[in-house]
Amino acid sequence: MKIAFIGGGNMGEAMLSAVLDKGLSTPEAISVSDTAEARRQYLEQKYGVAVMSSNRQAIGRGDVVVLAIKPQHLVGVMTELNGQLKPVQLVLSIIAGVRIDTLRQGLNHRCVVRAMPNTPAQIGEGMSVWAATPEVTELQKGWAGSILGAMGKEIYVDDERYIDMATAVSGSGPAYVFLFMESLVDAAVHIGLPRGMAQELVLETILGSGHFVQRSGKPLAELRRMVTSPGGTTAEALLQLEKGGFSELVKQAVRAAYNKAERLGS
Ligand SMILES: NC(=O)c1ccc[n+]([C@@H]2O[C@H](COP(=O)([O-])OP(=O)(O)OC[C@H]3O[C@@H](n4cnc5c(N)ncnc54)[C@H](OP(=O)(O)O)[C@@H]3O)[C@@H](O)[C@H]2O)c1
Repeated sequence: MKIAFIGGGNMGEAMLSAVLDKGLSTPEAISVSDTAEARRQYLEQKYGVAVMSSNRQAIGRGDVVVLAIKPQHLVGVMTELNGQLKPVQLVLSIIAGVRIDTLRQGLNHRCVVRAMPNTPAQIGEGMSVWAATPEVTELQKGWAGSILGAMGKEIYVDDERYIDMATAVSGSGPAYVFLFMESLVDAAVHIGLPRGMAQELVLETILGSGHFVQRSGKPLAELRRMVTSPGGTTAEALLQLEKGGFSELVKQAVRAAYNKAERLGS
C-alpha cells in the first residue's frame, strides 16, 4: 500500500511505524511531508521513508493520504491540496474535531475517512473509531481498517455522530484514567505508602483490572461485587465515592466532552 503522510509528528510517526511493523507497507512506498526540517531528517534516518516539505509532492505517491496535522494547520493544507487529489485516492484524517463534510468540501474530494484514535495508539494499544463517506470503496475501507488496526483496535461506524461520542469516551478517556491514577497514587501516599510503591500498586491494579475484565468476560458490576464483601473495606470506600457523586460526575464530564466535540465540529 502506498501511503502519503501529511504531518510526521507524534501520530504520523506512530502510524508510519505501526504500518511498517505490521508489514502493510514498505519504506519505499511511504512519503512524509512535514514543515519541520528536523522532523523530516529524523523520519528519513529512522525509517528510510521519502521525506519532503511539499504536501503536493507527497500526495503524488499515495493510495492513501493520511492527514496527521494539528487542526489549526488544516485550512492551509486544504487550500494547498484542493482539487489536487485523484478520485481513486483515499484521504484518512485523524484530526480531532474535524467533520467529514469539512474535509470533503475543503479538499474537493469524495473518498474521505475520518478517524478518532487515542494516545495509546502511539504504542500500538490504541482504540480508533472511524467513519467513511459513501464513495469509499470496500477495498479502501480495508486499507483504512488495517492502518488503524496496526495501532491497536478499530471500530467502523456508519454514523459520524458516534465519532463525537467516542471522542468523549475513548479519545479523552486516557486523561480520565490518568487523573484517576494520579488521585489514587496521592491517596496512597496520604495514608503512608512510599510514592514509588504507590505508583507501582496503582499501575498494576489498573492493568490487572483491565485484563481481568477482558479475560473473565464477566459484567463489570459482577467483578465489582466480587471485590466488595459486605461490611468490608471496599464497601466503605465505594460508599464514600458514591456520597461524593462519583458516577454522576463521570456522566457529567463525558456529556461535557461530547457537547464540546459537537461544537468544535460544527
Ligand atoms: N496525539 C494523539 O494521540 C492524537 C490522538 C487523536 C488524534 N490526534 C490528532 O492527530 C493530529 C496530529 O497530532 P500530533 O500529536 O501528531 O501533532 P504534532 O506532533 O504537532 O504533528 C504534526 C506535524 O505536522 C507538522 N505540520 C504543521 N503544519 C504542516 C503543514 N502545513 N504541512 C505538513 N506538516 C505540517 C508539524 O510541524 P510543526 O511542529 O513545525 O508545526 C508537526 O511535525 C492532530 O490533529 C490531533 O488532533 C492526535
